[in-house]
Amino acid sequence: MGQPIDDTAVNALFRDARTYTKWQPRPVAEQTLRDLYDLLKWAPTSANGAPARFAFLQSKEAKERLRPALAPLNVAKTMSAPVTVIVAYDLRFYEQLPKLFPHSPGMAKMFGSNPELVETTAKRNSSLQGAYLIVAARALGLDCGPMSGFDNKKVDEEFFAAGKPCFGCDQEFFPEGHVKSNFLCNLGYGDPGALHPRLPRLLFSEACSIL
Ligand SMILES: Cc1cc2nc3c(=O)[nH]c(=O)nc-3n(C[C@H](O)[C@H](O)[C@H](O)COP(=O)(O)O)c2cc1C
Repeated sequence: MGQPIDDTAVNALFRDARTYTKWQPRPVAEQTLRDLYDLLKWAPTSANGAPARFAFLQSKEAKERLRPALAPLNVAKTMSAPVTVIVAYDLRFYEQLPKLFPHSPGMAKMFGSNPELVETTAKRNSSLQGAYLIVAARALGLDCGPMSGFDNKKVDEEFFAAGKPCFGCDQEFFPEGHVKSNFLCNLGYGDPGALHPRLPRLLFSEACSIL
């Protein structure tokens, strides 16, 4: 606390971490996916609401269900990835607030009467949680390939609509169709031989101001 983490760790999380499109033939253990969630869950969200839901597609069958929704350029990299996560958000996330934010009992009611606030809050925080997933995956030695090139409507119908399986979750949120996809993220151990040179980033002076 109060001290920077060492440079090797910072490099692994940021400076040396890349977006991968080709994968080593090395599987990702189910325990690693559980460890991944157990890390990312600690990162902050509004009112501790944690609206993100994560569907880890690992079986060939689950991947095939995703295939028709993928943009053509994303098919090969996704079908060959050991795991593809659908980072989604639950529009009924506020129903969990009595457990997650118990000291403020009015909060669930406030969201329940304001669908616009629900949507904005769920999207913002699931995007944050998706970013936490990327950083946590890198901390566990995994590589990532995030993607927004897919048909959200098709994914929502296939994975989150009425009557669909809930991926072993212990809540009933999936079958009722109030979970929406945000973005996809391939996970695995990347093939560094397939990387193109690193693209530039904006300078501090182009992206930031200190007021
Ligand atoms: C939300 C998001 C959506 C993206 N969508 C796609 C995509 O659909 N297809 C793709 O090939 N790359 C996609 N990318 C990858 C970016 O182009 C890549 O992360 C960026 O160029 C930085 O590459 P680097 O991490 O290797 O420096 C996406 C990245 C993010 C974070």
